[in-house]
Amino acid sequence: MSQSSPNADATASERALLERRARLLGPTYRAFYRNPIHLVRGSGVWLYDAQGRKFLDAYNNVASVGHCHPRVVEALSGQAATLNTHTRYLSEIILDYAEKLLGTVPAHLGHAMFTCTGSEANDLAIRIAQHSSGGTGVIITDFAYHGATIATAQLSPAAVGAKGVPAHHRTVKAPDTFRDHGRAAHDFARNVAAAIEDMRAQDIRPAALLLDSAFSSDGIFFPDASVMREAADHVRNAGGIVIADEVQSGFGRLGQGMWGFANYGLEPDMVTMGKPIGDGHPMGAVLVRPQLVSSFGSNTGYFNTFGGNPVAAAVGIAVLEVIEGEGLIENARNVGAYTGDLLDALQTRHGMVGDVRHNGLYFGVELTADGDEALAASKTSAVVEAMREDGVLISSCGPRGNVLKIRPPLPFARDNAEQLAETLDRALSNW
Ligand SMILES: Cc1ncc(COP(=O)(O)O)c(C=O)c1O
Repeated sequence: MSQSSPNADATASERALLERRARLLGPTYRAFYRNPIHLVRGSGVWLYDAQGRKFLDAYNNVASVGHCHPRVVEALSGQAATLNTHTRYLSEIILDYAEKLLGTVPAHLGHAMFTCTGSEANDLAIRIAQHSSGGTGVIITDFAYHGATIATAQLSPAAVGAKGVPAHHRTVKAPDTFRDHGRAAHDFARNVAAAIEDMRAQDIRPAALLLDSAFSSDGIFFPDASVMREAADHVRNAGGIVIADEVQSGFGRLGQGMWGFANYGLEPDMVTMGKPIGDGHPMGAVLVRPQLVSSFGSNTGYFNTFGGNPVAAAVGIAVLEVIEGEGLIENARNVGAYTGDLLDALQTRHGMVGDVRHNGLYFGVELTADGDEALAASKTSAVVEAMREDGVLISSCGPRGNVLKIRPPLPFARDNAEQLAETLDRALSNW
């Protein structure tokens, strides 16, 4: 991501926008791409800039059922024109939504609590986990991202670095299925057990294991189900809570069902969600075992002014109906497999493609450069930039910044997959 400063390729109006943005929003904001894009419209898998140029969106999992989906927009505007309050008044729509959302998860998750972001959902889940377990320590992967509040930033080494993780938490190696012949993936459960032992040795009680089911910021991995279940068992045996962070992997993205954790046969005690839940509307939720919140509920209660408001509920229902009505999980499975084949074929043609990992419509393409990590990272960002210039939007991830992150809206079609693969082929050919 580039700093918000004008560059040579920017048009006069883009330069003016960048300057205004830096002046008004300050130094923390980053724009995607060396030549940032001024988007003015979105529809389905397409984004349009101010000059009318069309980009294939192969990156935005937030607009998961497609940009500005008419059904979602209609639900949003209809409810906004009728009533928008909060959860302290009686309302049917929040209950209809809770029922529908809870209907997508295993029956042991009986309550839904609503937030406005994924960060808030994880923050609330950690509070509940610490309250119900009596512990404080949380186990995360070593390049995880779980949010932007104080509690979740401290559980996000991808954002705050290893030193930003407080001493009572533990990081374990992400289950990397590629490097070292997949040793970290093989040893994942053992590493979680060792982290628990290490906590105990320092009188820290484990509260939770918090995992993104797609290990997105770690570089996108899909380890064996058995190691994931074994890791969860270790945590439960130590009195901790298992939290599946489905902010990235949820709502059909992985093509097998609605939730990423189900691919591992996991039965999490809490599931947190955000991004795709509202197709761009700011929403999040925690689905939880009722026993875990009973004492938390009577001790502290929970209120979130905007979380679960009637407009959010209308949007949430519309998103679930679109996923179901348009067969988007099946599409993620079928077009995901087709896209995966096209990307696998690129691996055979381009030596720098070290590994292609995919599940549904979530892809990680790891680029390598004979062990030169800095070179691999700079080539990865060059590929991302070249694709942007060629009309296809993707990004990169992983601790070394050498994994192409591809995660299109779920209505992605076969011809979109072909455009993606052809554009990537061209970008890789220019190495
Ligand atoms: C796995 C994961 N969890 C939580 C979050 C935080 O969500 P939000 O940005 O909606 O607060 C993110 C955001 O990128 C995420 O990727």
